[in-house]
Amino acid sequence: MIKIGVDYYPEHWDRELWDKDIARMKKAGVKVVRIAEFAWSRLEPEEGKFDFGWLDDIVSRLKGAGLEIILGTPTNCAPLWLYRSRPETLQTERTGMKTETGIRGHRCQTSPVFRKYAGRIVAEMARRYANDPAVVAWQIDNEIESNHCNCESCTAAFRAFLREKYGDIGRLNRAWGNDVWSGDFSSFDEIKTPLGDKYRYGWLNPSYMLDYERFAASSTLDYIRFQADILRAANPKAVVTTNGCFGEHTPDYYRVFEALDVASYDNYPTLYRTEKNPNGKQAFVLDLIRGYKRQNFWVMEQMSGSFGCWGPISPAPRPGAIEGYAVQAIAHGADLVMHFRWRTSVRGAEMFCHGLLDHSDADNRRLAEFTRLCARVNELQIPESAVLKSEVAILYSYEQEYAFKVQQMSEGFTYRRQAEALHAAYKRFGVNIDVIEQTADLSGYKIVLLPAHFVADETLAKKLENFVREGGIAVVTARSGVKDKCNACLMRELPGPFAPLCGAVVREYDGIGEAEVALKGANGKNYTATCWCDVLELKGAEGYAFYDSEYYAGEPAVSVRSLGKGYAWYIGAVCGGEFYEDLAADTLQRAGIPFEKLPENVEKTIREDDGRRFVFLFNNGEEARAFSHGGKTVSLRPYEAAVFKERK
Ligand code: GLA
Ligand code: ZN
Repeated sequence: MIKIGVDYYPEHWDRELWDKDIARMKKAGVKVVRIAEFAWSRLEPEEGKFDFGWLDDIVSRLKGAGLEIILGTPTNCAPLWLYRSRPETLQTERTGMKTETGIRGHRCQTSPVFRKYAGRIVAEMARRYANDPAVVAWQIDNEIESNHCNCESCTAAFRAFLREKYGDIGRLNRAWGNDVWSGDFSSFDEIKTPLGDKYRYGWLNPSYMLDYERFAASSTLDYIRFQADILRAANPKAVVTTNGCFGEHTPDYYRVFEALDVASYDNYPTLYRTEKNPNGKQAFVLDLIRGYKRQNFWVMEQMSGSFGCWGPISPAPRPGAIEGYAVQAIAHGADLVMHFRWRTSVRGAEMFCHGLLDHSDADNRRLAEFTRLCARVNELQIPESAVLKSEVAILYSYEQEYAFKVQQMSEGFTYRRQAEALHAAYKRFGVNIDVIEQTADLSGYKIVLLPAHFVADETLAKKLENFVREGGIAVVTARSGVKDKCNACLMRELPGPFAPLCGAVVREYDGIGEAEVALKGANGKNYTATCWCDVLELKGAEGYAFYDSEYYAGEPAVSVRSLGKGYAWYIGAVCGGEFYEDLAADTLQRAGIPFEKLPENVEKTIREDDGRRFVFLFNNGEEARAFSHGGKTVSLRPYEAAVFKERK
């Protein structure tokens, strides 16, 4: 059954508070507690001298209360004695200087010395707790970012990665096009990680940079595996995860979670609503997480109060938002939602990163709402076997995300933006959507959306062609088919390998940034185009939308082609107005997928198992909504989620 839990830092509180906290957690309905993340200096106060007394104590108290425990490996925060005595365990920044200590996450992921010490503390913990039935899972480290350390060890690892990939330096020089700007290397030992301040936006060779991003991701995967191996050596059945997030350097989560037992994520729906980001794109993110393993997932940290670390204090979660966003996560496939954090710290950098309880320690509005959530989840009895089934898929890839990050295509044009815009449009119609890896099997899907598939893949183009011929609908968007695997430009008409599928080619393009160009649909409706304008030449496809301003007015921007039993769209711009929604409605209709237009900000998903269906309707907005759904009138306050149980 789905569970609700909290993140707790017992080492920050007097022991007298522990029992009171446990009693209050129980009363609120908590089932699972995560502890020990960040507590290395308390577990190993001096090199090789361990103090597990306090952890044994809290573990036994939590167990005694019938609570399940998730243990964090504390490796995000090595004790300062380690950094002092072995400075090579510290990361090196892009300036070539060692990172200053005093915050957290200073550790170098590849340093053999760091690995020795980290391995020892993780093994100590595993030896003590990995076979304790109350310890239901492990979280490795905390919000691990892809390895962008520039120390000697990481430089050596980067060179080894390249040696393994290219074998000889001549091959690397050719693959990277190093004859440009006399950049040929004579040996792998001359290659460095990207140092200096010209890191982004095209100063450094994009082929080098994409390989560097691939290296950074694989290096982090290795670090995660190194810890998972230790935990599994102590108990082969240990359930191991790590709490994913989207920081500056996102690891390749498809590979990371392939190596782990369950995907998990730190879910902080935005507390700042803006016109451009009215609902935090949360639905997209949750579908992305579920797609990592194509399984239900966990939320390791869930928003419980205003943020107030790393920036000024944010607005407080509005009434209903704590419950509503937790139910939204469940609606998208979360089987466990851990609220960050049980109590707000009174010390340290995050003293205004609010948990459920405030500094005052008094019962408050947020705890009351959280208590209602626990009771509700308990009552709903949603089994973990209840999953989302989708006929619409978005193909995602970190390779594409990295390549876009290395070279932004125009002002405001990111990989994510395309994917999110498509996702939001289909969400308006209440259909389940999977976000899955670009290499995933497409069987079972009727509509496949391919946002900005920049680094082209002949195999994928063929696969989509077969998919369409067999009756599928494919949507390919601008900046697809531009690069080869070396991140060099293909010398062929765009969208490269997708051109035969789409029956259209790009005659020229215009990277207009945040400007707008008018667009007119073949249906007569007016839309807009922004960021990017591909001017198309139709080769078998029909025009679906045309530019209505600029020097290319009248030329096609979007094409549709009927191929075999299906259709392929090419969308040569980032579109505005109701374009994506109209496209979604058109494609859903052609695919024969039932759909309904939901009121603005209302999100629907369905989880089902053999016998039952759980229909979730969530008002992800600040205005109340009343609408009819399945013959009933549904009224939702802001952030309210309704759940209907149906027998199949
Ligand atoms: C992240 C971290 C937490 C904490 C919160 C604050 O999710 O994992 O340790 O810093 O952010 O919002
Ligand atoms: Zn390093």
